Amino acid sequence: MLRRRPLLALTLISLVATAVGIAIVLWIDWFPSQASTAASDIDTLYDVLLVISVPIFVLVMAVALYSVYAFRVKPGDTRDGAPIHGNTRLEVIWVTIPFLIVTALAIYGWIVLVDIEESKADALVVDVTGQQFAWSFEYPDDGEVQVNQLVLPKDRPVEFRVHTLDVLHDFWVPDFRLKTDAVPGLTTHIRVTPNRLGAFPVVCAELCGIGHSTMRQTVRVVEPAEFDDWLAEQQQTDEDGGVEANGGDPIAAGRQLFDDTGCNACHMLADAGATGQAGPSLDDLAAQAAQLGQQQGMTPEEYVRAAIVDPDAFVVEGFQPGLMPSNFGDQLSPAEIDTLVEYLLSVTGEGSTQ
Ligand code: CUA
Repeated sequence: MLRRRPLLALTLISLVATAVGIAIVLWIDWFPSQASTAASDIDTLYDVLLVISVPIFVLVMAVALYSVYAFRVKPGDTRDGAPIHGNTRLEVIWVTIPFLIVTALAIYGWIVLVDIEESKADALVVDVTGQQFAWSFEYPDDGEVQVNQLVLPKDRPVEFRVHTLDVLHDFWVPDFRLKTDAVPGLTTHIRVTPNRLGAFPVVCAELCGIGHSTMRQTVRVVEPAEFDDWLAEQQQTDEDGGVEANGGDPIAAGRQLFDDTGCNACHMLADAGATGQAGPSLDDLAAQAAQLGQQQGMTPEEYVRAAIVDPDAFVVEGFQPGLMPSNFGDQLSPAEIDTLVEYLLSVTGEGSTQ
């Protein structure tokens, strides 16, 4: 049939391939869960792009494969092919149709973009700061609370203002379908309304250095009342270092701060179950702080505090300066640093389980 009625055969094969292709692209589960109001519009747009791509792909491949078969060289034929000028009508068609398709898709994409970027009243402003290799978050309108774990109330519009302290990063929450570069010297903006309770990954989507793959955190979307409680607890923690929230136990408060601040991602510390390798192990910290502090004329407490606030002042042998973020002094309140210093010295000192 391909020999006697090639166009009919080609058309039939292409139609079947198109139907199969569309079924496959729609069957594949491309997306994570839909956790924001923008997600379903974006997923629909993506599906439309996929469905339109399939017949174009099939048409191009069918014509190419058929031509290879039908116009192949006969054995013994060494002549050049006949010179052809082209076909003006065909060229006009294959420029016009793609132009119309691309224009229509651009308009559709633009409509979706304008819709999801629309500014909304009562938005919660969150400052997002990327640095090698962690995200931190600040709620400027709510007591300037600074945290390492993002928490958002469900169904309230959020406006992220994204910054970086060093190189390019890319703030990405796949379940929100939200992604924007963090660009040195610029503040980029992105709006989203989370509409599903749960915990979702926060990812860095720009290769930003040796710890890029560890630059993963979590956003928790909670009920508005729970969000208010959480915010109040953070403000309280700024004041007392988290002791009250941990039932008055400063060691438990320190352990929680160690985790929440992300120290565990880079440092080893048996008491916290931390196995990070990017920075020096802290398991012998009390003895080291006593010895190194003495050389500097500091108490162990002063030494540990200085090493947290100004990490490049004392770089441990075998590690590069600039590896540890230098803004923990801004990010943690004085009371939180007290809690952390006390914790680190007491779980690694004499009488501890080390
Ligand atoms: Cu930050 Cu990759």
